[in-house]
Amino acid sequence: MQAEEWARKYDRALSEVKESIKYCRMFVTGFNTNIDGLRHVEGEEIERIVTEKNLEGEILSKLENPPREIRTLSDLLAGILFCAENGVGEEWFIRELEVFETIRSIFGYDRLRMGGQGGIMTNVLALLDLKVIPNVVALPQIQAEQFTTERGEILIPRRENGRIVFKNPLEAARESDKIFIHSIFEFDDRFCARVGGRTIRAPVDNRFIATYDDENVKVKVDPAFWEGTLTVIDRVGVAMLSGYHMLQSQYPDGSKPEDHIRNTIELIKSWRERNPELRIHTEIGFVADSGIRESILSTLTPHIDSIGLNEDELADNLYTLGQRDNLEEIRDMNAAQIYTGARRMMEKLGLKRVMVHSRDFSVCLLSSGYGVEPRDELYSVLFGSLLAATLAHTGNFPTVQEAESVLRSGELEISERALKEQENLASHLESEEGYPGKRFLEEGFTDAEPSMVFAPSNLTEPRATVGLGDTICSGSLAAEEALKRRKQRVA
Ligand code: GLC
Repeated sequence: MQAEEWARKYDRALSEVKESIKYCRMFVTGFNTNIDGLRHVEGEEIERIVTEKNLEGEILSKLENPPREIRTLSDLLAGILFCAENGVGEEWFIRELEVFETIRSIFGYDRLRMGGQGGIMTNVLALLDLKVIPNVVALPQIQAEQFTTERGEILIPRRENGRIVFKNPLEAARESDKIFIHSIFEFDDRFCARVGGRTIRAPVDNRFIATYDDENVKVKVDPAFWEGTLTVIDRVGVAMLSGYHMLQSQYPDGSKPEDHIRNTIELIKSWRERNPELRIHTEIGFVADSGIRESILSTLTPHIDSIGLNEDELADNLYTLGQRDNLEEIRDMNAAQIYTGARRMMEKLGLKRVMVHSRDFSVCLLSSGYGVEPRDELYSVLFGSLLAATLAHTGNFPTVQEAESVLRSGELEISERALKEQENLASHLESEEGYPGKRFLEEGFTDAEPSMVFAPSNLTEPRATVGLGDTICSGSLAAEEALKRRKQRVA
C-alpha cells in the first residue's frame, strides 16, 4: 500500500474511533505510577563529566560488559552511552539513595511529567474523555499534579469512614507519601561523545531510564484500589496492567518476585469472577534479568489476554522461551520475523493478542477468541499509533483534537521503511502460508487464524521518546473498546 492510501486509512480510523469513543465502558489501570524527570543530554556534556571525573577506562569496560544496575556515577554514564551507541532504550535501577542524590544534583530535570505505564495510560485515556481508575501506591501532591485534569475522569479509590469513595487525584493526595522521580535521559540522533578514543554516536533518538523506587518495584496494589475496583469491575471493559518489568530478583524483606506476581493474580481472578468479559492487557517493558522474564511469562501470562512489547523486548522474551533462531532479524525490525516471533509467543503462551510496536510500524496478532474483527483492530492500532506520533511531535500527551490537527498539518510522514517491510511481509505470507500477499498489501490485515494487522508509523522529528509504546497500546485498546461497544449498541 502506498503512503497516500495509508494516510486515508489514518483519517478514517480517526473519524470512526472519535465517533465511537463515547460508547466505552470504564477502564482500570495499574500498577506502576511515578513521576518522570525528563532531562535531554548532549554527547559533549557526558564527555565532559567522564573526563573531569577521570572515568574513561571504567566506562569503556562497562560498555563491553554493561552492569545493568547503578551503584556508581560511572554506571549511570555507561548506561547513557550504552543506550546511545546501540540506539536502544533500557531502564537500570539505582541501588543507593546517595547515588540517586548525586545524579540529581549533577543533572537535575528539564521538566516533570507523568510516568510509569499505569500513570501514562491513565492520562492517555483521560485525555480521550474516558473514565479511569488507576492504582497509585504513592500519591504526594507533586505526583497528583501529574494527572491530567483537562478531560475525562480519573477516580482514585480511598477508604473513608469504613466505606470506599472515589476521589480525584488532587483530593486523594497524601502529603506523607513518598516521591518517586525516575530520571529519563533523552538523547537525539545528533548525540556524539568521545570517550577514551572511542566515538559514540546515537543512530536514532532514544532514552535511558535510571530508576530509584522501592514500592513500584513490588508491583504493589493499593488496598483501596483492590477493594474499590471489586465494587465496580462489572462496569469495566478493559484493564491495562503493567509494571512487572520493575520486579527485582531479591528484596530486602526476603520476598520473591513470584510472590508479588501472585498477589496481583489473586486480584485478577477476583475481577474475572465478577466480570468474565473483562479484557486484560499487559505492557511487558524492558526486563534485564532473564529469570524474572521467565517468572512473568510463566506465572502471569496464563491470566491475561493481551500483551504489548517492542521489537527488542520481543527478542528478549523469545530468548527466554528458548526460541533463538531469528532474534537478530527481529532486532533489525524485519517485519516477517517480528510476525513469526509474535506468533510463536502467542502460541507458546496461549495469548489472544500480541502487539509489537516499533519505531516504524506495529504488527498485532489476534485470535478469533479475542472478539475483535481484524478491520476494527487495524483502525484501532492506527488510532493508537496516531496518538503516539502526536506525543512524539508535540512532546505532550494528546487529545483527539490535537491528534487531528497534527494529522492534518501534513508534518507527519508515513515511514518508508514500513512500506518496504509490509511488502516483505506480504511475500512471506504468500510463500510460507499461502495467504494472498496482494490482498494483505491492499487491506493492511489478514483474516487468517490468528489474524494480523500491520500499521506503518507516522514519523516526525521527535520531541518525546518516553511513553510512546504506552500511548500506542492504551490508545489502540481504547479504540477497540469503542468500536466493539458501538457495534453492540447498533446490533
Ligand atoms: C518505566 C519507567 C517509567 C517510565 C515508563 C515509560 O516504567 O519506570 O519511569 O515512565 O517506563 O514507559
